[in-house]
Amino acid sequence: MIAVPVIAIDGPSASGKGTVAALTAKELGFHYLDSGAIYRVTAHAAMERGVDLADEAALADLARSLDLHFDGVEIYLDGQAVGDAIRTEAAGRAASRIAALPALRAALLDLQRGFRKAPGLVTDGRDMGSVVFPDATLKVFLTASAEERANRRYKQLIEKGFDANLTALVQDLRERDARDASRASAPLRQEADARLLDTTDLSIAQAVDQVLGWYREADAR
Ligand code: C5P
Repeated sequence: MIAVPVIAIDGPSASGKGTVAALTAKELGFHYLDSGAIYRVTAHAAMERGVDLADEAALADLARSLDLHFDGVEIYLDGQAVGDAIRTEAAGRAASRIAALPALRAALLDLQRGFRKAPGLVTDGRDMGSVVFPDATLKVFLTASAEERANRRYKQLIEKGFDANLTALVQDLRERDARDASRASAPLRQEADARLLDTTDLSIAQAVDQVLGWYREADAR
């Protein structure tokens, strides 16, 4: 049986990997999984239910019992739309804290792998190519400079009507990168078999074209 193709796009916060992954999925008619949203929604649920963000066993139990539903880019927790609530910087920070806990990561594996359905999946995160889908057809490590990423996040927040401070965003991104890269469990890093895509000077369309080009090469093999 031929495995359902997966394009795994990993990289740091606000690198644009989500936008590139979603557009690539649209081009190919593939499903899309934003794995960061799963960590964010788990952190959000924990805060709502008063679960301690350091209680690994309780968080893993919570992760296994989440009632999640995806509809396009919207995400529902217990039937409630939580897309906006989980996109805040506070939710991102909380997600990054709980994401360092191995039992919590293990509890989310089956949920993520369940998104691999025909005709294919494009997914983005930190460990999609290394841990969740090690047999992915194409693995990309997508990044950009911290300043460029902070700029992008700043524009996104302002567009959504949120308050934002550029200096604080650069600081926050650097701290989050350091935490994601230094954790023992599934640290953020470019794997040997992942292609490096630095989007600092690329438009979204150029980045998507590059991923599609690499995918066609990999698929032809
Ligand atoms: O990508 P996003 O910023 O939405 O992810 C929020 C946090 O979730 C990240 O800072 C990271 O700690 C964690 N994460 C992870 N593994 C993934 C996706 C996200 O550890 N595959």
